[in-house]
Amino acid sequence: LERARRPSVVWLSFQECTGCTESLTRSYSPTVEDLILDVISLDYHHTLQAASGEAAERAREQAMRENWGEYLLVVDGSLPGPQANPGYSTIAGIANLTMLEEAVGGAAAVIAVGTCAAFGGLPQARPNPTGAVSVSDIVTDKPIINVPGCPPVPMVITGVLAQYLVFGQLPELDEYRRPRAFYGQALHDRCFRRPFYDKGLFAETFDDAGARAGWCLYRLGCKGPSTYNACATMRWNGGTSWPVEAGAPCLGCSEANFWDAGGFYRAL
Ligand code: SF4
Ligand code: SF4
Ligand code: F3S
Repeated sequence: LERARRPSVVWLSFQECTGCTESLTRSYSPTVEDLILDVISLDYHHTLQAASGEAAERAREQAMRENWGEYLLVVDGSLPGPQANPGYSTIAGIANLTMLEEAVGGAAAVIAVGTCAAFGGLPQARPNPTGAVSVSDIVTDKPIINVPGCPPVPMVITGVLAQYLVFGQLPELDEYRRPRAFYGQALHDRCFRRPFYDKGLFAETFDDAGARAGWCLYRLGCKGPSTYNACATMRWNGGTSWPVEAGAPCLGCSEANFWDAGGFYRAL
């Protein structure tokens, strides 16, 4: 039997730091190799594709032409908005906004990976020199799934991609278009330091006896009570640990405006 054709995925990287792609490559179930070789046809991705230069752009155009109306468009990074100088960020001489609008036209759905794509992220932090906007600031006529995090948890990226492509429909989303399966609970409600919070036992410095004993990091600026993400359950580095377990207060990296919303390592 002829092997079923794998769904085409076109991945555009705009104003980003490659951290989201770095995270993707750390997924272990499914691995990025399983995803690319067995589940999807990743027809364009700057960092992961073999082609470069004009050949890469031809691959993108061909994938869009052959799968028009059906491909899944993934975006990481924000993009200069309609009022900004289009020259702030270009690929192959094409402004990000132009490339996004063209690619969205043939997409069945859009997945915004990372807080930059989902909410504007780091490029949008004050003073936002490039007039950065999120994908959903521009795209209003296609289904969008936001997968925020700076970067997102590796298996959340692959899990959302695989889930959409296997079932062919959007997962249940919250009011910020985040899949509830991964973003439905505050970190605070799954944190192993929570019993110390409930008892009023807080670390006051990063290296005091309380910090070493696993006490709550709230007074060191932990944003876990207002942060919705899967870190506490899915964890990082192959399920080894996550920031709060490693002694670093959560920065709230899956929330909109987290760069400007109150400072890192400072209790609000
Ligand atoms: Fe980098 Fe964070 Fe933006 Fe991803 S969300 S591209 S990790 S700055
Ligand atoms: Fe909540 Fe953060 Fe304290 Fe954990 S360390 S219980 S997430 S405030
Ligand atoms: Fe981000 Fe907080 Fe998790 S900073 S990686 S949401 S622990």
